[in-house]
Amino acid sequence: MTAQFPPTPAQAAFWKQAGGQAWVDLQDLMDRLNQPICDAVVAEGFPGAGGAVLDIGCGAGATTLEMARRVGPQGRSLGVDVSAPLLEAARAAAKAQGIANAQFLEGDAQTFDLGEAAYDAAISRFGVMFFSDSNAAFANLRRALKPGAKLAFACWRSPADNPLAGAPVEAAAPFLPPMPQADPDAPGRWAFAKPERVQGILTRSGWRDIEIVPLDVPTPIALPDLMTLSLRMGALGAVLQQADEPTQAKVRAAVAERLAASETDGMVAMSSACWLVTARG
Ligand SMILES: C[S@@+](CC[C@H](N)C(=O)[O-])C[C@H]1O[C@@H](n2cnc3c(N)ncnc32)[C@H](O)[C@@H]1O
Repeated sequence: MTAQFPPTPAQAAFWKQAGGQAWVDLQDLMDRLNQPICDAVVAEGFPGAGGAVLDIGCGAGATTLEMARRVGPQGRSLGVDVSAPLLEAARAAAKAQGIANAQFLEGDAQTFDLGEAAYDAAISRFGVMFFSDSNAAFANLRRALKPGAKLAFACWRSPADNPLAGAPVEAAAPFLPPMPQADPDAPGRWAFAKPERVQGILTRSGWRDIEIVPLDVPTPIALPDLMTLSLRMGALGAVLQQADEPTQAKVRAAVAERLAASETDGMVAMSSACWLVTARG
């Protein structure tokens, strides 16, 4: 079984602080790697030129900005996120790219009043797996959409389907304090891995025409970049920050050895195994 660290107890606090900062620091790399997933989500959610779109858990704004370009100047794209550092990066990117029809809002998408029947679509790339009450969150999002409007998001399939995501955690585990077994459904990266769970949440929160299809994206990555991602991001990144330097060194060596086994000519042939989920409000 793939080792997992427990999800960060307070997701909002995690994303506002170390988790969000790691994404800001590694934003260019993450955006390059995840561009095909941005393209898939935006293509599915695009409501037509002039539409108004919500981007949930928008982070540094790549999908919000791509959607703003697609809907054009008569349309608008609103990114919502809990993380101030990530929103700052998103606003800076909009300014640098001269995109005026993208706005960014700091708020918790599960409770924030996003208005009623105000949007033509909602999208998300990996931003909807962190809610403490997913039923309430998706009901809140549905209220903000016009009747029949489309929801399109990407979320991760299981750690078993994404072995290179679990490998660094497994390699690090012998050097770190023992962790209680994580609840696989707890808020966090893997919370939407089970399609029947996603189907249940969306059905309970009033969505219809739900479709959940595999999205497999080749995401080849240079070994040093994969090392950086593995050691800085997610739960392992958070745990390592608390560890002393000798422990960090042992973990770095163990993770490097494990990942080197998947390397050819400096590259690792990683693939991202996701679900592409669509539904109508
Ligand atoms: C894995 S990152 C994805 C960021 C971005 N969508 C991307 O693809 O680059 C998850 C994002 O969800 C945000 N998030 C977590 N919980 C949230 C909540 N309750 N409301 C809004 N955003 C949330 C985090 O701050 C973070 O930016």
